[in-house]
This record gives sequence, structure tokens and C-alpha cells, in this order.
Amino acid sequence: MRILGIETSCDETAVCIIEAPGDVATDKGDAFMPIKATPLSAFQFRVLGNALYSQVAIHAPYGGVFPNLAKREHAKNLVPLLTQALTQADLPSLENKRRRLLLKGDAFYLEVENILTREPELFEQLTVFLETHDRPDIDAIAVTHGPGLEPALWVGVNFARALSIVWNIPIVAVNHMEGHIFASLIKQNSHEAASCEKENGYGLMSSPCTFDVIRYPLLSLLISGGHTELVLSRAWMQYERIGQTRDDAVGEAFDKVARILNLPYPGGPQISRLAEEARKTVTSLTYHRGDKLNLSPSTFRLPRPMIESADYDFSFSGLKTAVKRLVEATGTLSNDQKKDLAREFEDAAADVLIGKTLRAAEEYGVHTVLVGGGVSANKHIRHRLAESIKKHYTTHKKLDPSDPTNPTLLIPSPEFATDNAVMIALAGYFHAIKEEFADPATLRAHGNLHLS
Ligand code: KG4
Ligand code: ZN
Repeated sequence: MRILGIETSCDETAVCIIEAPGDVATDKGDAFMPIKATPLSAFQFRVLGNALYSQVAIHAPYGGVFPNLAKREHAKNLVPLLTQALTQADLPSLENKRRRLLLKGDAFYLEVENILTREPELFEQLTVFLETHDRPDIDAIAVTHGPGLEPALWVGVNFARALSIVWNIPIVAVNHMEGHIFASLIKQNSHEAASCEKENGYGLMSSPCTFDVIRYPLLSLLISGGHTELVLSRAWMQYERIGQTRDDAVGEAFDKVARILNLPYPGGPQISRLAEEARKTVTSLTYHRGDKLNLSPSTFRLPRPMIESADYDFSFSGLKTAVKRLVEATGTLSNDQKKDLAREFEDAAADVLIGKTLRAAEEYGVHTVLVGGGVSANKHIRHRLAESIKKHYTTHKKLDPSDPTNPTLLIPSPEFATDNAVMIALAGYFHAIKEEFADPATLRAHGNLHLS
């Protein structure tokens, strides 16, 4: 079965086609035929086409994502990206019996025009696309319907609704955060295969991808530009949010701190790069909580908000404000001071994220820890998380390192850490095999959608 994935929740426009076991009945009106569930250990999928357009350069001058600009760019790029993904996938086209040509004025034309009434440019491009492309052999469409920037989400949702109607295939509404969890399940070997193909110019994983083993309970630390959450799963595709940020998301704090330091958007990779440089040069100094504030290089000290609180909530707005105050107090920062402040900020964020994750892992006796979302691309956080889990369960807990009850850590490859359509198609696939379809007539975007 082939799934078309569509992601437009923020500033990446992404379209992909994946193939996984199972089938959908082909005749109009037939019920979806669920496959016999493949055991997850034997599950394989292929990425047949994967096209992504990042709007980063467009939003950079504004220092952040501009929702209406994001919406306009999604509308402009969805059809070219769909065309690109289909060309990569090189799918057989189906005989035309399920293809619905949009003939001006007929019922389908009016229905689709109505769905895309706020995206006239997209409607225009779609009608031309449908005149020139047969219906591809795709069985279902998975689209992000939240959470995210509502104007941006609507474009993907409306595009999916229109395609679902003209191709007469079901639609699956996917929660973006569940997508991030799926991105982190893709096994590391699959990532390596992906990079090899990339070097050969494909940018695709023509070799099959598999999942890492998940042992429950599973704890997911989801860290992105819009979210910071700890989600507990006691079973496959069951989610219970046990903690979240009370104000800014951690990625948002990275982006805002970068702006304070006059670094371009998105700030996460910039802060990470500076912090890494600082660590290379300042390796011998140690820092102690409660040190007297000293503004000479390598001595910046920031708070670790809520690190001692008994719950699993986070707060990053105060951390950003503390950076702002330090910068105001220091005046113009030298390059070394900037690097040192970036390092201290990254350390502070990592301390809180990891401290809470370890405590939750301990309290809920989890066997797998997963990290996902754009900020999980951060090398320092990845490394610290892996080291801390190992250390905690070997030294502090004095457990045997080979004890199978020690949690394993699942980390996404950098290309799947940030927003992409593959994670949406994957999550969509697992809802499709449970026949969890949305009604294209009533599907809507939900900016504040929750996972649990
Ligand atoms: O998941 P994502 O691509 O989009 C959202 O769903 O928000 O996450 C984007 C966020 C941005 O805030 C960006 O600055 C952050 O992820 N990010 C990073 C890194 N790469 C991306 N933050 C820290 N270090 C990085 N290397
Ligand atoms: Zn995301």
C-alpha cells in the first residue's frame, strides 16, 4: 500500500510517498481492507519519493516564522513538490476509471474550488496538474492537521481534501507530534542506507527501512519549535502527556536567544555551532551552580528553570529573559563571550530536559526513552542524553550495564529530526491499517491539537 504524506505545519513544505505492507480496496464504495498486522519487528517500509522545501531563507529576515507568509509559500510549493515526489517514485498510473477530471463548472470542480477557495493559486496549479497527470497508484493520503500554525496547516489540509476527492482515496489526519515519535522509531541502519543513497544523488531510501525495537513503557521527550513535552506510552500508539512547557518551547527559546545574540533564524543550529566552538576552547573550566556572577569570558551562569520542581513541566521563557539581562548588563559581547553564553544556554536547556526525562524514566520504570522534534537534531543534547542515561543506570543505580531493563534510547537521524513528510506518512499508515480515516468534507486544521 502506498501513502502520500503531506506536511505544512510550520515553515517546511514536504510531500512524500512511502510504501508499506497491505492493501486498500480499489473500487469506489468498497470498505478499506485492513491487513493482518505485521509484527513490528518485521515491519518494513520504503520511501519512494521525498520532496521538501524549507522556507527558512524567506522567514530569516523577520527573525521567525510569519504564519501568513508560510501559508502563501506552502500554497505556491505543494503542487511542484507533489510533482517532484511522484517523478522520483515513478509509480504506475492507474487506468482512468477512478480519475476525476476537473471539468469547469461540474460538481467536482465546484467542490474542489470551494475547498481551495482561500488558496486560488493552489487551485489553479492543481487543475493544470490534474490535466497533465494520471491518477497515481496511491492508496491513502496522510496529512498533518495539527498542532502548528493554523494558516499553514490549513493549506496542507485543504490540498489533501481536494486530492482525496479527485482521486477518490481515503484521508488520514495525523498529529504532528505523533509524527515526530514515528520519525525516531526508524532504525539507525535505515538512516545509514538513506545517507548512502543521498551521496549517489537520490536523496531517497531505496533500501527498506525498519523500526528499532520498542520495549514498553516508552517515554518520549518531544522538543521542537512549538512544543516541549514528555509523553508516556504504555502500549503501541497510546499516549499520555505527563509534562509540558508552561510558556516557551525549548526550540523557541533557542531561536529567541539567537536573535538576542544577533544570529540568523533558525537559531537552534547557530547556538549549537557556537556552543560547540566554546567547548573546544574552554574544556578545563568547571562550573558550579550558585557561582557569583562574573561577566568575564567562560563564566556566564544561567538558571535551570523548574529543574527541582516535583512535576514534569518545563519553563523556558525565564531562561531567555536571563540571557537578555546578561547581554544588557555586559554591553557589546566579544565573539568569545557570545560563544560562551551560547554554551551556557545550551547546557542549561540540556540540564533541565535531561534531568526531568531521567526522573520520569525512573518513576514510570520505562524501558525505552525516545527523543524527537527539531531540537533533537542538537548534537550536544543527543550526546548528553545518551551519556546521562548510561551513567544514571550504571553508576547511580548501580545496575549492570547489560541489564535488559535499562532503558534504550531512540534518536532520529538529523534528516528526520526536523519536520518532514515521511514521519506523517508513517503515522498515517498505522492509522490507515486501523481504518481511522477522516471525512474530507469536514476535516479541519487544529493549531492546538493535543496528543493525549
Ligand atoms: O520540529 P521542527 O522542525 O518544527 C516544529 O515542529 O517546530 O523544530 C524546529 C525547531 C526550531 O526552533 C529550531 O531552532 C530547532 O528546532 N532546531 C535546533 C537544532 N536544529 C533545529 N535546536 C537546537 N539545536 C539544533 N541543532
Ligand atoms: Zn515539528
